Amino acid sequence: MDYSINQKAQAALNKLASMPGMRSVKEQVEQMIHFARVAKLREKNNLKTTQHSNHMIFTGNPGTGKTTAARLIGEAFAEIGLLKGNGKGVPFVEVHHSMITHPHVGEAERRMAAKFKEAKGGVLFIDEAYAFLGDSDSRTDEKVIATIVQYTEDMRDEIVVIAAGYPEEMAEFVSYNPGLASRFPTTIHFSDYAVPELVQIAQQMVLEQEYQASPDYLEALASVMWIEKSRQHFGNVRTLRNHVERSIRRQSTRVVRMPQPSRKDLATLQAVDLVHSPQEVQSSEKEVLQRIIREAQNRLFELDLKEIIKPL
Ligand SMILES: Nc1ncnc2c1ncn2[C@@H]1O[C@H](COP(=O)(O)OP(=O)(O)OP(=O)(O)O)[C@@H](O)[C@H]1O
Ligand SMILES: [Mg+2]
Repeated sequence: MDYSINQKAQAALNKLASMPGMRSVKEQVEQMIHFARVAKLREKNNLKTTQHSNHMIFTGNPGTGKTTAARLIGEAFAEIGLLKGNGKGVPFVEVHHSMITHPHVGEAERRMAAKFKEAKGGVLFIDEAYAFLGDSDSRTDEKVIATIVQYTEDMRDEIVVIAAGYPEEMAEFVSYNPGLASRFPTTIHFSDYAVPELVQIAQQMVLEQEYQASPDYLEALASVMWIEKSRQHFGNVRTLRNHVERSIRRQSTRVVRMPQPSRKDLATLQAVDLVHSPQEVQSSEKEVLQRIIREAQNRLFELDLKEIIKPL
């Protein structure tokens, strides 16, 4: 195997590259592929090679593209030859604590092992992996962790395991067991999208459905997203998609009342189609501003205090 980039692998990588934002995952994946290709060439040239684990931790808020990126990485890695499969496509197996945990002795480990086998040649995506840490007295889950540790090692040429969750909890997950830390050497953080990125994604989204967003629609959407972003655990593209889908439904209600809607009328989304009352936006904007001012005042107060109590 020479780890060449074939058409399918290139298509998956191009798809990832075309998605707005997600800079750190793009950089990291490129680096991993370069490393694998150079390692192969070094081997051919009788140079020492070290095995690196491809398993990863993904952290970030909902809707930041973790699952989407994991799928594309699986396709690219499999096509490049980094994952030995059975030639029957690239599986993407998603597991969650609730699908694995079981009161019968041995059943949870058996289920987890079965998921690893199912994902051979592709990706095993463990969502909210820290849930397996459970309470200190839940021994079943400890065995599941041991299964994860064992299979991530035994199947490292056949599978890429991606464990995802919020940053603090994932840091706790890897530090729980030294075996986990060494098997998941790469952590990729998926930042919240910036408003211009969200607007760009919205444009792609509506175009795919043969709609067109008018400039006033995009402007209104940007202000709604700005407000949404200030909420805790902001849903990123999920929240964006909800707004866009709601707008599309409202556009129908508007257009259906026109006596003879033109092709352009049928395709255009306007600011009025977006559900947000200007008053609501204004009052939320005020709340956000008040919070920012409060935080700034607290910070200034802290800095002043530091100045006062600074050792001589
Ligand atoms: N950069 C992007 N461009 C276009 N669409 C995107 C982008 N990022 C995410 N999406 C879309 O947003 C939706 C949510 O993405 P995804 O499921 O990958 O997020 P996630 O981080 O796994 O979320 P969760 O933590 O809630 O599972 C998907 O439909 C995905 O296609
Ligand atoms: Mg997901």
